[in-house]
Amino acid sequence: MNNQAPDYSEYIEIADGVYWVGFADEQIGLHCNPYLIVDDGEAVLLDSGSRDDFSTVMLKVIRAGVSPNMIRRLIYHHYDPDLCGNIPHMETMINSKDLQIISHYENNIFINYYSVRSPKQCIENMDYTYEFASRRRLQFIRTPYSHSPGSFVTYDTKTKVLFSSDIFGSYDYNWDLFTQIDGSCKSCVPGETCPITQKSCQILGILNFHRRVMTSAKALHYALSEIEKLDISMIAPQHGSILNTPAAIEAAIGHLKSLTNVGIDYFLEEEGH
Ligand SMILES: [Fe+2]
Ligand SMILES: [Fe+2]
Repeated sequence: MNNQAPDYSEYIEIADGVYWVGFADEQIGLHCNPYLIVDDGEAVLLDSGSRDDFSTVMLKVIRAGVSPNMIRRLIYHHYDPDLCGNIPHMETMINSKDLQIISHYENNIFINYYSVRSPKQCIENMDYTYEFASRRRLQFIRTPYSHSPGSFVTYDTKTKVLFSSDIFGSYDYNWDLFTQIDGSCKSCVPGETCPITQKSCQILGILNFHRRVMTSAKALHYALSEIEKLDISMIAPQHGSILNTPAAIEAAIGHLKSLTNVGIDYFLEEEGH
């Protein structure tokens, strides 16, 4: 990682054996971030993306030196189309009898409607762990109702990267792969324009996303309390920017913990109930 603007038309290695294989579209405020983990010839793809994203994601996987049949597992943190839409395309391209899909039981019920071709593994039957042949271990942590009943996050014990799915996601046209949020954002009142960057406030983009997408402050705060137990080097969400410094992680968690009008409460407040 360096301070030069990354080339978003290429895959980007964000940690040891961890690759961002999404794409940047400046016309949309909702960026999707599929990630690839490669260890000793074995690959796992997380939240592989929509139908339209398929060719971009697969091209980057191949450019990263991974032939499709090296992908042993597809992990889906919930069942939305922005992460699951290209499952049938992935299965066709990977074309391996060893391929399995990992998610929570509550999600697999719905993921079966994308495809029944691959066996589904439920994290609650896997001791909330996936171990590569190399012994690299992924840990799954439930975050129910943030935002789906079966939602969970994935923690890579080797790099301490947390793949947080929609948690820490953002609606924002001001996008970089690595966040602009720093320690000065911690005590800032989130506003439209950042007094430092003169761009839109990235904390506000995160808060707006969580108000609408998460179900309740209770569910969100539970998820954050589980996340705070982990020793995290970097938070890699499925939308928005990667939080790659302790200060950015602390600022984002702090603002989200003080968010009260979330989900149903946001709706009721907006409607004046
Ligand atoms: Fe979602
Ligand atoms: Fe999403």
